[in-house]
Amino acid sequence: MTEEPATTPALVPTGCDYPSPDITVWYDARRCRHAAECVRGAPDVFQVGRKPRILPELADASVVAEVVRRCPTGALHYRRADGTGEAAQTPTTLEFRSDGAIWIRGDLRLESPDGSIIAERRAALCGCGQSANGPFCDAACIRPPAGITDA
Ligand code: SF4
Ligand code: FES
Repeated sequence: MTEEPATTPALVPTGCDYPSPDITVWYDARRCRHAAECVRGAPDVFQVGRKPRILPELADASVVAEVVRRCPTGALHYRRADGTGEAAQTPTTLEFRSDGAIWIRGDLRLESPDGSIIAERRAALCGCGQSANGPFCDAACIRPPAGITDA
């Protein structure tokens, strides 16, 4: 995937920001399905349980950007220090998951329950109706039912 000026269209990352001199990464825990693409892709940069959990300066910015783009849910975003961000994938693709989620990539305009329009490049959309963070999957579909705990 290539890169483009972050000013068009208006992509607004959500979640916590993790700045470094060359690239800033955002992580929105409400959209993470724990697929671990980030941890596998750049284990020094992305570490669950460490504070801060993301240290972008521990890898080249182009590597960090590439790993962020692997995140299927849009829980991760980035912006390079030169103002460039993520270009849209063409054509748009949809992947229907067995748990109900729909993974989508493209030049997206998503309507939230309050009617606002969200510009996106990647998202896991909720198709099961359980998410408290619509239109996005919040991983409710893959959590064990209440009362069931790991033995
Ligand atoms: S959903 Fe994204 S942020 Fe969450 S573990 Fe997977 S790749 Fe990382
Ligand atoms: S599809 Fe995951 S919470 Fe609905």
